[in-house]
Amino acid sequence: MEPIRVIGMGPGSEEYLLPVSRDAALECEILFGAQRHLDLFESSGAERRELTGASDGMIAAIAEARSQGRTGVLVSGDPALYSYLRVLQRHFSRSDLAIYPGVSSIHVAACRLGISLEDAIIASVHGRELSDLDRSLTTGAPLFILTDKSNSPARVTEYLSTNGAGSRQYHVCENLTLPDERVSGPFRDPVTGEHQSLSIVVVEAMK
Ligand SMILES: C[S@@+](CC[C@H](N)C(=O)[O-])C[C@H]1O[C@@H](n2cnc3c(N)ncnc32)[C@H](O)[C@@H]1O
Repeated sequence: MEPIRVIGMGPGSEEYLLPVSRDAALECEILFGAQRHLDLFESSGAERRELTGASDGMIAAIAEARSQGRTGVLVSGDPALYSYLRVLQRHFSRSDLAIYPGVSSIHVAACRLGISLEDAIIASVHGRELSDLDRSLTTGAPLFILTDKSNSPARVTEYLSTNGAGSRQYHVCENLTLPDERVSGPFRDPVTGEHQSLSIVVVEAMK
């Protein structure tokens, strides 16, 4: 049986989808993914199934698909950064998975802001406690935070401002590579208002 292909789709725009990863998906007979990713392969002839979570039923469906034909799981950005890969690794061995890279939203945020990633800290508050961020503030390193609907940029920056962010400033990167991409900041105070559900908060020392 072939390994399950875990394929990075990049941050959103098709221009940022690596050819090697697009080809890996085009060769699949069954694809799992978010609807926006499946839509990119409408004419590929693959059977397309929505990836709806990490339930045992979902994992069983992926395992069964694998026994029926070449199967791919489409994930946003890069599989190696906060993706469904971690879920699959709990159920399948290393040799059961073939991983195809993608451009991460973190890479794009770093490039838009001109911040090198070698010293940076990458964190996610997706479904996690904001207090998980506390240890990320102990050095002055730039901090890239993946947000979600409830831990929004406003909530995250409010938390950081009252929990040790001190003399830092914030940027918010929304819908990167998409037509309505917006990069805003630097802000010295917590950000306010609504932001897109695809948002990254970047914290850095004040310049
Ligand atoms: C589950 S994580 C997946 C990260 C992905 N593996 C990557 O490398 O970009 C989802 C989070 O990534 C961030 N994200 C993904 N795409 C984005 C985009 N186009 N613009 C801004 N943030 C994005 C958001 O914080 C979103 O909530």
